[in-house]
Amino acid sequence: MEKQRAQWGSKLGFILAAAGSAVGLGNIWKFPGKAFEGGGGAFLLLYLIIVPLIGMPAMLSELTIGRASQSNVVDAFGKLGHKKYTWVGWLSWLVAFLITCYYSHVGGWVLRYAVSYATQSRAVYADPLGYFYALLGFDPVSGATWLPVTALAFAAVFLAICAFIIIQGVQGGIEKFNKIGMPALFVMLLILLVRSVTLPGGMEGVRYMLSLDFSKLSFHTLLTALSQAFYSLSLGMAIMVTYGSYLPETEDMPKNTLLICVMDTLVAVIAGFIVVPAVFATLGPDGVGKGGGFAFVSLAGVFERMPGGVLFGMMFYLLLLFAALTSTISLIEGIVAFLTERLNWSRTPTTIGLCAVLFLIGCLYTCSQAAFPLHGVWFDFANGVTFPGFGDAMEFLTDRVMIPIAALGTCIFVGWSWTPEKAAEEIHRGGVRFGLLKLYSFLVRFVLPAAIAVIFAVSLFTGTTLS
Ligand code: PFF
Repeated sequence: MEKQRAQWGSKLGFILAAAGSAVGLGNIWKFPGKAFEGGGGAFLLLYLIIVPLIGMPAMLSELTIGRASQSNVVDAFGKLGHKKYTWVGWLSWLVAFLITCYYSHVGGWVLRYAVSYATQSRAVYADPLGYFYALLGFDPVSGATWLPVTALAFAAVFLAICAFIIIQGVQGGIEKFNKIGMPALFVMLLILLVRSVTLPGGMEGVRYMLSLDFSKLSFHTLLTALSQAFYSLSLGMAIMVTYGSYLPETEDMPKNTLLICVMDTLVAVIAGFIVVPAVFATLGPDGVGKGGGFAFVSLAGVFERMPGGVLFGMMFYLLLLFAALTSTISLIEGIVAFLTERLNWSRTPTTIGLCAVLFLIGCLYTCSQAAFPLHGVWFDFANGVTFPGFGDAMEFLTDRVMIPIAALGTCIFVGWSWTPEKAAEEIHRGGVRFGLLKLYSFLVRFVLPAAIAVIFAVSLFTGTTLS
């Protein structure tokens, strides 16, 4: 007899869990820097157009595939009668696997910093770059390197927390954690927002974020915004298919999609209004950056100059920690769902074993940052064959190649094989009304594939990561 599939306990639980997946490091440390580079308000406006036109139809498609197939991502396409798309499922599954290897380690570094601000903020302030490098096993002064034990230990703790929550199940673990974690995240976000905009000079940053300077917008900005939307909404990575498969028939998926996208975008925009004004007020506009280096190194200067900086610094990393936890949990669930359903493995040992493997592969990622000269191989048309750090190569592979192909495969599947009409049948089940079928169909068939193909081509030809 087939095992009963897990289901969400409540609508709110599902929405918070899906929003928890979407709201991640990308929202908090990538979006503000991109918005700054893209001219502030002009970028925000562009992003607010892209999310409903590109992000929402893509998310609705993934949720619908999940609910219609009632299956993990690898088997979903076959269950809908299109076995030849199973490769898309495998690819999405593999992306989730690879991303989790490093996302979880970065989550460990975030955890380390939350603790660092609580216990040794002076050491962080005294030499932000040195502190970060030391965590990664490198002394830039003497050139000495060592096994980054602290970073690895924190990554292990981070993964253990994720495993613990996942083992409790979809309702008892993931849903419950998100029901506490997401409101906590919003509260921290609002406190940090108030702190940031009330700093002397903070209003300059607010003004910048509201200014409509379209001269900074370019084709490249458009592509960056597009990839940001995909990454931020957790698309192309098995997650929304898996989370959709735990939805009951009566759920209104278009409405849920709207809510999840609104929450994700709201968090990104608020993060923009936290980070940019805070940096304007302390380091000046030139200090705004993005990514890990910015979050771990530059921001120390911001918190040091801010009244109550230690407390707000701690809260900021705690915010990042919650964002990273809820996202990592969704990724691991996507991987576990397949292993337990297809191979009939039981949930607890599968989760523990998987987390151990993720941890070990992730060790190579962490070690390749500064401690050891571990390299990968890469090819793009701009630079030919190169040998970037192992960690960078891993990120290039997922962000530049695998996510776009998986996302492209998914929308071609819905647009041209399964058809938007079949998707609509699923959406309508339980009496749900969906008046935008024509628009949805047009977007999924033409606009999405074109947009994703361009992102893919540009990253391959120019050798840049857009997300
Ligand atoms: N959406 C997350 C972020 O913005 O950081 C990252 C992510 C999480 C991507 C989970 C994909 C995923 F499945």
